Amino acid sequence: MNELTAKKDPLSGAAAMFARYRRDDAPKPPQWNETLDLILRHRSYRAFLRQKLPEGALETIVAAAQSASTSSNLQVWSVVAVEDQERKNRLAELAGGQQHVRDCALFLVWLSALARLDRLAERQGREAKALSYLELFLTGVADAALAAQNAVTALESLGLGCCYIGAMRNHPEAVAKELNLPPHVFAVFGMVVGVPDPAVATDVKPRLGQGAVLHREQYQWGEAQLDAIETLDAKFKDFQREQGLPEQGWIRQVLSRVRGPEAMSGRDRLKEALAALGVGLK
Ligand SMILES: Cc1cc2nc3c(=O)[nH]c(=O)nc-3n(C[C@H](O)[C@H](O)[C@H](O)COP(=O)(O)O)c2cc1C
Repeated sequence: MNELTAKKDPLSGAAAMFARYRRDDAPKPPQWNETLDLILRHRSYRAFLRQKLPEGALETIVAAAQSASTSSNLQVWSVVAVEDQERKNRLAELAGGQQHVRDCALFLVWLSALARLDRLAERQGREAKALSYLELFLTGVADAALAAQNAVTALESLGLGCCYIGAMRNHPEAVAKELNLPPHVFAVFGMVVGVPDPAVATDVKPRLGQGAVLHREQYQWGEAQLDAIETLDAKFKDFQREQGLPEQGWIRQVLSRVRGPEAMSGRDRLKEALAALGVGLK
């Protein structure tokens, strides 16, 4: 353990499961270990100490990201590591003014990066027409997401904290310009990374009971889903009260987020932006 991880005592499996669901019927793990403990205690951090990452942390995080599975071994993702304060400030503005983008030590922008294969095909005098299809776009997005989530686990194991920033898609063309992205490369999301500020309390955010997400043999829409939703709504109100947030509940919050294009912070024009960035969606 280093100084970053030393402060965290491992939870028992039962305590970690209860924290994740706040339900008495939470899963009972067959065994408990450090990996499960780390994953189950995840929470997003948005307040950081003004402290740089330790030497070698970025490269270690990227190695973990590269250890994720990748569709057909295409490795069609990349990441831009931003530490320059002025650039972080400009990206924060493009992300709806999110202060944590300014304050983080490191801002990672995870890319679907089909351009590498485009260039390779060109150099080899080969065709790469499949790159213009929706399937390959989806491959790049899935690869970027898998890599990023491995990075989350790695950085949390180093005692760092992070938060994804989907708002990188609010203004895709301006983000592409800021990061000098070539055609066929798209910023899927950003991620603020830093040493969490211990003065700002955070907690594990409860999730839907497994009755909503775990379907055995075939998908089912039934009582179990409704129970999970209603229970989470109540538990989420408790969480919001504990965190000093308005007690909106989960249902109101998510339905407000999906009510229409006006709730999408500019992302309703994503298809148009992708076309402008040379991303094919055939
Ligand atoms: C793809 C993605 C995009 C996100 N975008 C933002 C964002 O722009 N700003 C933000 O504060 N949180 C963002 N989040 C964080 C989520 O709000 C957070 O993960 C969720 O509420 C669950 O909380 P937890 O991570 O603490 O468990 C994003 C998360 C994901 C996975």
